[in-house]
Amino acid sequence: MDLHERARARCHWLPDLTGRTGARYQVLVDQLAADIASGQLKPGDRLPPQRLLADALEVTIGTITRAYREAERRGLVEARVGSGTRVKGTTEQPPDFHHLSRAGHDSIDLSLSIPIPNPLRQQQLAAILQQIASLPTAIESALTYQPEQGSPLQREQLCQWLNAQGLMLLPEEVILTEGGQHADFLALQALIKPGEAVASAALTYPGMIAAARQLGLKHIPVPMDREGIRPDALERLCQQQRIRLLYLMPEYNNPTGLSMSQQRREAIVEVARRHDMLLLEDGVQFVTPDLRGTPLFELAPERALYIFSASKLLSGGLRFGALRAPSNLMPQLRVALRAQCWSSPGLMGAVTCQWLAKGHADPLLHWHWDEVRTRQKLLHEVLGQYNLSSHPCGFHGWLQLPEPWRAADFVKLADSRGVTLIAAEPFCVGTQPAPQAVRICVTPPASRERLQEGLERLAQLLHDEPPLMPPLL
Ligand SMILES: Cc1ncc(COP(=O)(O)O)c(C=O)c1O
Repeated sequence: MDLHERARARCHWLPDLTGRTGARYQVLVDQLAADIASGQLKPGDRLPPQRLLADALEVTIGTITRAYREAERRGLVEARVGSGTRVKGTTEQPPDFHHLSRAGHDSIDLSLSIPIPNPLRQQQLAAILQQIASLPTAIESALTYQPEQGSPLQREQLCQWLNAQGLMLLPEEVILTEGGQHADFLALQALIKPGEAVASAALTYPGMIAAARQLGLKHIPVPMDREGIRPDALERLCQQQRIRLLYLMPEYNNPTGLSMSQQRREAIVEVARRHDMLLLEDGVQFVTPDLRGTPLFELAPERALYIFSASKLLSGGLRFGALRAPSNLMPQLRVALRAQCWSSPGLMGAVTCQWLAKGHADPLLHWHWDEVRTRQKLLHEVLGQYNLSSHPCGFHGWLQLPEPWRAADFVKLADSRGVTLIAAEPFCVGTQPAPQAVRICVTPPASRERLQEGLERLAQLLHDEPPLMPPLL
């Protein structure tokens, strides 16, 4: 073994720089940032001594010194006399969503559909921001106006990631948006005229209800069964009036957690074709390929739009999403997006696409998908004896309350026991009565133990039964 081989054998972090162009020290720092982002290097991990790494990589010690100094300047590492150079930890608290939640500070929040807090998210974003600073294409896209559809490079990168997840979208059929809600609003605004009718499951995502109302559209509720929207009921509604677009979440409906079988998807596509109706498929609640059915844009590419968002994968604060549309609709979408905001911000696109690219986000995503599944099992362990529906990788469950519970009382009493929930009301389309049900989100608590505590308080409450109302005259 020569000197270099011996050094390589002793290095616990050995970046592969072969074939990489640019100044050696810079390439080394970029690789360091990428390895922190991917979780390969964790806060507190010690970098190899400079002399050892120089021998291992067959570069001068000056190159390593310069790289470590640059990494320190970029906030990736800190050097302490006597303990070497270590990967910097985050001192920040996980994000506090209390401005969104109605939960008090001591309350266990089961009301918000947000990713599970994890400091790895902050660490990865910090490292990605460092990488972005040295990527000329990212700087360029932040400083120049983008085409309405969004940067071609970012659409390419996004589609590469989606394709690897089994979602076969093409860059030319995608328009980048400022999140899923924006994609939803954009589709409705560009394609449907005020006064025209759109439809959705009778229980649906409140952002869709708000967008349709804001745009002056008629919003028709479609009756549901165990798979969501009923094709026979949809057919009847279509015979009574012209419905321009059907909004749906075939993978799992927010809030009911219900999924559509292949047969159900095909039946809905058939109705849509018969009545020349557009389909707006909301895929914001991302489902892993092993649990996903056939997306509607594959079954009916000529009429199905598809919404993607980074909000449930990485963070809602990025405000990054995309809308897939058939090519004949793209000109209208481009014109509407330009009228709204010209294009989605290039910098946020660069951050998100860089984060998703080359597996940087994988450690966070895989942890998250595993953790959500474990939490779903916990939900069923604690409340499975009741009428509960949910998806194995869903952020929430839907609990039909046993008699004689009413949802408003249950939410109020849960609140008094320190658990915050949402009842069915905001998910109801039109004026139909709300079912006596609540949505229970498993993702907001920072730990599994805290979730379990919240769920057990709900189980106890269900066991105790509601208090009798005083008689009224
Ligand atoms: C079904 C559904 N669609 C869209 C959105 C909005 O996504 P974004 O935060 O990317 O705007 C949400 C957010 O909870 C959602 O649940």
